[in-house]
Amino acid sequence: MSAKIYIVYYSVYGHVEKLARAMQVGAKRIPGVDVSLYQMPETLSDEILAQIKAPPKPADVPVISPLELADADGLLIGIPTRFGLLPAQAKALFDGTGSLWANNTLRNKLVGTFFSTNTQHGGQETTALSMLPYFSHLGLHYVPFGFSHPALSRVDEVLGGSAYGAGTVALASGDRPVQAELDVAEAQGEHFAQETLFRVLGRQTFEKLHKAEGKKNERM
Ligand SMILES: Cc1cc2nc3c(=O)[nH]c(=O)nc-3n(C[C@H](O)[C@H](O)[C@H](O)COP(=O)(O)O)c2cc1C
Repeated sequence: MSAKIYIVYYSVYGHVEKLARAMQVGAKRIPGVDVSLYQMPETLSDEILAQIKAPPKPADVPVISPLELADADGLLIGIPTRFGLLPAQAKALFDGTGSLWANNTLRNKLVGTFFSTNTQHGGQETTALSMLPYFSHLGLHYVPFGFSHPALSRVDEVLGGSAYGAGTVALASGDRPVQAELDVAEAQGEHFAQETLFRVLGRQTFEKLHKAEGKKNERM
């Protein structure tokens, strides 16, 4: 049996989307893992989107509903910062998980983060941290990436990303993320896919053992 990973992102100008697609490339390197890409529902009006010159959303990426989050074993959440915090679209998505919260449906699934800011000190880490209360309340297990890629320790070039996950410093030039940021995203996707598969296979083994011992097969 395979593990299911949903990469769920919000992106206005495409920077987080590019990281999300790189995550998908990395995650697909792990055999036995199904990886799907989803967009968060937009909450801004067409008028505001026109004012901020937002390009059309990609047609090949479906929009996810809060309840669909339940179908994944692992969730990779990608967000651009808003004032150093998560965007309202991510809050709206997670605020729609009330019934999942009430039934502990998302409990023990894995979750990871990646992000984008416009500037080097615009809030990469605070943005990731602002997601943690949602993960904690829902019982999601946060999987940080750590300093697991050499690019995360480089200071010779302005690069996004941190121990909390891949990131890009978007600027307004249109040529970000740079290759090193995409490399981190691919590596994080691969790492997260492997960890999710470990979890799914470990649970299956545990449940088999539990059954063999004639114990009640409960989801712990
Ligand atoms: C309302 C608003 C607030 C923002 N706040 C910040 C901020 O605090 N720090 C920052 O570096 N960029 C900020 N930005 C810029 C976005 O984070 C940037 O456009 C985004 O990371 C680009 O990602 P995307 O192309 O995936 O939309 C803000 C943008 C908007 C519209």
